[in-house]
Amino acid sequence: MAAGTRPWWATGVLYEVYLRSFQDGNGDGIGDLAGLSARADYLAALGIRAVWITPFQPSPMADFGYDVADYCGVDPRYGTLETFDAVLDGLRRRGIGTIVDFVPHHTSDSHPWFREARSSRSSPRRDWYLWRDPAPGGGPPNNWLSQTDGPAWTLDPATGQYYLHSFLPQQPSLNWRNPDVRRALFDAMAFWLDRGVAGFRVDVLQGLLVDPGFRDDPPNPHWREGDPGFMRLDAVNSSNQPDVIEIVAEMRALLAAYPGDPVLIGEIYRPVETLVAYCGTPERGLQMPTNFNLFSTPWRAEAILDLVARYEAALPTGAWPNWVLGNHDIGRIATRIGRAQAAVAMLMLLTLRGTPTLYQGDELGMEDVAVPPDRARDPFARFGPGRGRDPERAPMPWDEGPQAGFSTETPWLPLPPAGRPRSVAAQARDPMSLLSLTRRLIALRNREPALQQGSWTGISAGGGVLVYDRHHAGRTFRVVLNLTAAPARIDVPADGRAVLSTHRIDPPGVSDGSLALAPDEGVLLRL
Ligand code: NOJ
Ligand code: CA
Repeated sequence: MAAGTRPWWATGVLYEVYLRSFQDGNGDGIGDLAGLSARADYLAALGIRAVWITPFQPSPMADFGYDVADYCGVDPRYGTLETFDAVLDGLRRRGIGTIVDFVPHHTSDSHPWFREARSSRSSPRRDWYLWRDPAPGGGPPNNWLSQTDGPAWTLDPATGQYYLHSFLPQQPSLNWRNPDVRRALFDAMAFWLDRGVAGFRVDVLQGLLVDPGFRDDPPNPHWREGDPGFMRLDAVNSSNQPDVIEIVAEMRALLAAYPGDPVLIGEIYRPVETLVAYCGTPERGLQMPTNFNLFSTPWRAEAILDLVARYEAALPTGAWPNWVLGNHDIGRIATRIGRAQAAVAMLMLLTLRGTPTLYQGDELGMEDVAVPPDRARDPFARFGPGRGRDPERAPMPWDEGPQAGFSTETPWLPLPPAGRPRSVAAQARDPMSLLSLTRRLIALRNREPALQQGSWTGISAGGGVLVYDRHHAGRTFRVVLNLTAAPARIDVPADGRAVLSTHRIDPPGVSDGSLALAPDEGVLLRL
């Protein structure tokens, strides 16, 4: 694809709305679609191009919507199909696309398909899920582990067989080798495409297929004491099958029948070298196999420079990179790297080559919120220290009013402590806030082709300062990020001009070919 002709999902900024914690519209303490509609102007002012909304389909909420009981509806707690259409419409009028979270790997155990499947061994839907007899001596059919750290198999006493689930037992895995399953799930995708959605974020894409022989997973040589128990095994057989790319191609063919170049984003946790296999070809692969590698890379200039360089080198021709700093499953970036680095991280996310996905609240510098045990909601909190995902799911602090403007009732999860971070309203008034910086940066990115789609060149990582260039059509930006808490000085071309700093309204001057950086400061220069 020639530079200059990149599609909307490559040039724009994406934003993840964790629906339950964005804005409550009906006073039950839970975020919903009407609340999201009411905040459409906030999203427009950020300058983002599309929102990915976490699941809102009918669900018993064993995993807060990642256990779908009806792929073509809206859970009454979140709204109705009409409120969904209103979101779609309100965002579209502001130039923002709506990306639906699609959860095809498993259903809820209360989905009618599963109820039917478990009703008897001869049920016509039995083969829609993965059933196996007990092992010869009894017990689970093989050694596969679920993210509960226990077996990925649960016995159904009535029919005497085990069913597979990679997450909670309430999330039985669908059998994607069954063509009827594929057809049913593609129909569900068409249902949302017909309503005008801009694409899908596909949950657990890398796990859609399992080894047809159900062979044991081997031990994971990288597992260390303290890592989650399910990672003791290398999921080469229970997940990560190379033929998933054929399902991706079928999904892409479906999307291609719709106008507006809908996007397919796949949730995939892989190192960059194997992640890029999911790019396939530009027409048949994922436009965006989510790149989570900044989650696991030490926050050090050399390590990040190395990661970006390896990713850039691994990307197949025609493939487009993407970057993520946080989501509703992992501790907040401002907590992981420290509050002082949050602005540097934002400058990095919005200037690396590739589509950035911003997690709601990171533009405020939200941190993990301590959740007392009696208010814990995430079932995964039971599986060990640090496993609960409530801290990164705290509601958005909108203003200084009751319940921080999120709701009129006690929110489903505790709000952040007052002032940590300052609310949207307070930050919007302060030109030096992280929110104002994020808005300025996205606005700059939206008008600068070099930042949207320019080439990336790593320059240096000495002294804890990460430096790289973005270049397009005769225009070059240099990004200088002080990843340390100490002041730094670096050489820059004498004609460089700073256009933005994380720390000051008037960016610092370049004198005698060098630039002085405050601790934790990032600067964007034009060369
Ligand atoms: C990934 C989702 O982001 C997470 O929240 C969920 O628990 C699992 N997939 C299972 O659906
Ligand atoms: Ca609500």
